[in-house]
Amino acid sequence: MRKIPVTRPYFDAEELDQIKASLDSGWVANGPRCAEFEKKIAEHEGIKEGVATTSCTTALHLAMTGEGMGAGMDVIVPAFTFVATENAIVETGATPVMADILEETFNIDAEKVKGIISDHYIEKDGRLVNRKNGNVLWGIVPVHEFGLCCDIYAINAIAEEYGLRIIEDAACALGAMIGEKHQGGFGNTSCVSFHPRKSITTGEGGMILTDNEALAVKLRELRSHGNSVSAADRDRGKGFLLPEFNDAGFNYRMTDIQGGMGIAQAKKLDFIIETKREKAQYYNKRISEKLPELIFPVEPEGYFHTYQSYVCMLDLGKLGIDSVEEGGEYRNRLLALLEKRGVATRQGTHAVHTLGYYKNKYGYKPEDFPHAYACDRLSITLPLYVQMTDEDQQYVIDQIRDVIDNM
Ligand SMILES: Cc1ncc(COP(=O)(O)O)c(C=O)c1O
Repeated sequence: MRKIPVTRPYFDAEELDQIKASLDSGWVANGPRCAEFEKKIAEHEGIKEGVATTSCTTALHLAMTGEGMGAGMDVIVPAFTFVATENAIVETGATPVMADILEETFNIDAEKVKGIISDHYIEKDGRLVNRKNGNVLWGIVPVHEFGLCCDIYAINAIAEEYGLRIIEDAACALGAMIGEKHQGGFGNTSCVSFHPRKSITTGEGGMILTDNEALAVKLRELRSHGNSVSAADRDRGKGFLLPEFNDAGFNYRMTDIQGGMGIAQAKKLDFIIETKREKAQYYNKRISEKLPELIFPVEPEGYFHTYQSYVCMLDLGKLGIDSVEEGGEYRNRLLALLEKRGVATRQGTHAVHTLGYYKNKYGYKPEDFPHAYACDRLSITLPLYVQMTDEDQQYVIDQIRDVIDNM
């Protein structure tokens, strides 16, 4: 029996060489390798500045804090995303206000965002104030889910109309584009992840991307306890005394061991994305030929999908199933049977409003965001990684066909 994981990072000797060079140099905490990695990623995405962090979650929290999000503020965010998006907002003291998504793209529905603003906020002194709790609407944190950019131009237009801010959660979307513009290039700060399930990895890790150089300076200080002089600068002779700390910051610094690994990974980024895109096309073709019960992920005209994850939906109509609940049970049985046949799969991601903390604290019900709920129950991530062969992909398709035929 084949054993096919849901993903597998892609390394060669260069990651080891970089890690060894970092150890040999004695510089293992944040330093020159991180700075080089930041430059490489920012250049790749066509952005001026990169600020490397310990994860995308800490990147989000750092960017949010640095851009003034905090207590007494509301932030609109999609209901279907990894919980870290909402958690980072909660960590700032602000309140996440969830919006439903479009099932075809898994991304936030701009029309729903407009509806939330018109239904729940009133304009006071040039700011949008929540009619119920008096919170000021800080802005929107859209997510580019699974490697496909959301309709960011529609979100930007809403933000412009109401004077709102935006931070893009691009955890999954390094390299994703609309037209010739990469994520991070749409006029807002964005945050990417280097977790092993992402296109490239540093074990754990993240990065903030911004064209605002003054903001990058502030974020680097906040990343390092509020320290106004970096360790690298002090090493270059900027003093033996501890410098000034003007903010109460964090320790969200990426290590140089990871930075070196990132430099090696960054060189492979285009190859990894192109290879995954080819394999995604192969799945699309096979699914349309053999698996009408699955809806494969779309790539809207003008968008460049990186297929960080290849996420399908169950087509309930084709399966003769009437309800999302029943569909969810069917999906779970299907995934369990595939696991027994050596094919690892996952649900796409979760509907955050159905998770304990958010359900209990904010009183959300599953039906509040029906598309997010349906995607939570009916989505299936198929294995996709560079080392996968055509035979592996064919095996995945054949096993799904056979399991469905025998359910
Ligand atoms: C949409 C989204 N946001 C944030 C994160 C958090 O990223 P990290 O694991 O690097 O903290 C993830 C990770 O899966 C994610 O998918």
